[in-house]
Amino acid sequence: MSEQPPVPAATHVLVSGGSRGLGLSIVQDVINSGAKVTAFARTVTDGMRELAEQHPDRVHIGSADITDAAALAQLIKESSAELGPIDALVNNAAIGQDSLHVHTSADRIDQIISTNLTAPLLLTRQVMRHMMAKGMRGRIVMITSICAQRGYAGLVAYSATKGGLDAATRTLAREMHGRMLVNAIAPGFFASEMSSVLGQTQLDAITRRTPSGRLVEPDNVIPLCHTLLFDDTNINGQVLVVDGGGSI
Ligand SMILES: NC(=O)c1ccc[n+]([C@@H]2O[C@H](COP(=O)([O-])OP(=O)(O)OC[C@H]3O[C@@H](n4cnc5c(N)ncnc54)[C@H](OP(=O)(O)O)[C@@H]3O)[C@@H](O)[C@H]2O)c1
Repeated sequence: MSEQPPVPAATHVLVSGGSRGLGLSIVQDVINSGAKVTAFARTVTDGMRELAEQHPDRVHIGSADITDAAALAQLIKESSAELGPIDALVNNAAIGQDSLHVHTSADRIDQIISTNLTAPLLLTRQVMRHMMAKGMRGRIVMITSICAQRGYAGLVAYSATKGGLDAATRTLAREMHGRMLVNAIAPGFFASEMSSVLGQTQLDAITRRTPSGRLVEPDNVIPLCHTLLFDDTNINGQVLVVDGGGSI
């Protein structure tokens, strides 16, 4: 097989769950870098609206449920018609869990797996087909979690989905053989709506166990996500941990 040139920097990034928390910070970073961005979540927030108003020629926002493949197809059609083809995806949207496995209903387990694993895999497939149809090469970043590598009570189904995406990352990188760079970022706990179920005692315990002596912040994840989207590093098929050393 012939040698592949480097995958170009992203020019139009699709960010799932780009309405708040880490996702909104990723959207802001893509804008700061000069690229275009399409962001969606079930609810469009003021933060998304402000960015779209400030950068009408580079930001497309939409309301869509990640489990609704038809809505996502429509979003991709509209945003690529407006801003040009999408050549990168950040699979950030997810729902959390705060229940022991024995107390988690079958419906809830199904919902966590559909939202956090099946839907991102289908969206990845959709975006890859979009890129390949346009003869483009691109980049995929999965936002997973340290929970996929270390055990945390109350997060069984959630951890299973994140481990599934980590495994898919490696295999996709191999399948795409340089036509796409596929990587995952596995953060430790950071403050957000998702992690707001943790009480101060639990947060203090995590901080104590973290060698860097402080919890992760979304801003700690941004430089790495930026590099995976824009730089020529030849990092591929990796799961990169950002957890202050909590898992060592
Ligand atoms: N917070 C942590 O401690 C932590 C640690 C490790 C990894 N992570 C991962 O980091 C990523 C971001 O988490 P976060 O803490 O920033 O969470 P967050 O504040 O709860 O944000 C989650 C985002 O996903 C969207 N979302 C959820 N369900 C969706 C659906 N069905 N369809 C479309 N969008 C949906 C949410 O918007 P809507 O609800 O309006 O749809 C929101 O934009 C997630 O993948 C999470 O698993 C978080």
